Amino acid sequence: MSMIKVTVIDREGEAHELDAPTDMGMNMMELCKSAELPVEGTCGGMAMCASCHMYVKSHHDLPEKSGDEEDMLDEAFHVTGESRLGCQIHLAEDLEGLVVQLAPVG
Ligand code: FES
Repeated sequence: MSMIKVTVIDREGEAHELDAPTDMGMNMMELCKSAELPVEGTCGGMAMCASCHMYVKSHHDLPEKSGDEEDMLDEAFHVTGESRLGCQIHLAEDLEGLVVQLAPVG
């Protein structure tokens, strides 16, 4: 199994270093849920709910946002230039050391 390390900062400011498999087709929303971090993922990863909104704090070159992701973030609260939908961040080897912070709810 291929693993990378990613860090998720929760809404209390606590950093959680997680082992993230890169060969299971997982995304950041699913990883957070499996680590029991408070990410709802209400739409199941369809870019339709923004409950997986997170800020990318590290300088990784993520793939461009899809139209669906852009549209959903347009409607979300607390959006910044670092905003992404966690379900659209697919775990891959080049994300080693990724740091994200969970966006506030609502
Ligand atoms: S889980 Fe719904 S937009 Fe990501």
